Amino acid sequence: MAAVGGRAHTGGMDTEALFGRSLLTTHDWSVADLDTLLAVAAALELLDRAGVRTELLPDELAYAMFFDNSTRTKSAWAGAAARLGMQPVIVDGSSTQVAHGETAEETGAMLGMNAHALGVRHDLILGEGNSFMRDVLRGISDYLAATADPRVVPVVNLQCDVDHPTQSLADLLWLREHFGGDVAGRRITVSWAYSPSYAKPLSVPQGVVSLLTRFGAHVTLAHPEGYDLLPEPMAWAAEGAAASGGSFRVTHDMDDAFAGADAVYPKSWGPLALMTERVAANRAGDGAAMRDIEQRALTTNAAHRDWICDERRMGLTRDALYLHCLPADIGAEVTSGVMERFRVQVAREANKKVYVIMAMLAVAKVPDLPGRLAALAGP
Ligand code: CP
Repeated sequence: MAAVGGRAHTGGMDTEALFGRSLLTTHDWSVADLDTLLAVAAALELLDRAGVRTELLPDELAYAMFFDNSTRTKSAWAGAAARLGMQPVIVDGSSTQVAHGETAEETGAMLGMNAHALGVRHDLILGEGNSFMRDVLRGISDYLAATADPRVVPVVNLQCDVDHPTQSLADLLWLREHFGGDVAGRRITVSWAYSPSYAKPLSVPQGVVSLLTRFGAHVTLAHPEGYDLLPEPMAWAAEGAAASGGSFRVTHDMDDAFAGADAVYPKSWGPLALMTERVAANRAGDGAAMRDIEQRALTTNAAHRDWICDERRMGLTRDALYLHCLPADIGAEVTSGVMERFRVQVAREANKKVYVIMAMLAVAKVPDLPGRLAALAGP
């Protein structure tokens, strides 16, 4: 761990293997590398809370494109970049020339010739976001190689169709703090919950189950029939549990999932069949079909209004910690009473993301990071 007696601890930390890396899914990274990233995040948090300036990347440009709404992740990107001495710039992805047919590789090359790090959120359409990010990274890498440009420009996934890695890593950091250092052996429930607002992406539950299972947690995924997650992250979760000594199971009963849980993460996502149907409608640019699918998704959701995190269900747990990536539909996904009880905890959970993004940019871009952090921490 990176926190010893409230001081940043960098002894034994080796970030060399992470230099130049991008973060497109947590599955791309080994458990050891993720542990190192989280140790750096914890060290940076301690330095920040102690008021130590951490301007490790002065005057660099941290550019982020959002093809969907965001409150927390945008501010975490800006906060992380500013704390590192970088200049954050956040643009609406739909205002770029991607909307006029510019390819992801071209976009990557164009942004990579100026920026020093690139964040992307592209989460609404299955099959598109993660592959867009991989193409952007290829465009940047090819441009830098072709021009013999030594800059390192990592791409950070700020939520795609498959994963939301800065969220799931922030959640893991928060869970480790809550449980005193480790999630191994803890019973953690990720559950679907009713939402009337919009058909939310699948990437948060996919990211959380595929990450926590790799760290020895006993993860239960609960959802009504028809709300399956994508096969690939489900396979990652099963493989992760087998390798770590944790476990992974699926139930269609929310009470069963809450019984005996140490932590619960109830949130909504869209029905898989309709999320899949949306792919073709989006490709065809058929706005009417997109609106019709959205309406049918909300009607489908409405058949499961009883999937709510309330005090009765919290009473089935082992005094569980309530988590949510936010924003939550209060009165639908969670009662106002439960949310009020955990209001500060979910804000602290959200605040971990700034340190995850700082760590990601620092490990990718700062040579001899452990030495630099040790110098900042002082004798
Ligand atoms: N949890 C999360 O990613 O929040 P935003 O959508 O507000 O960024």
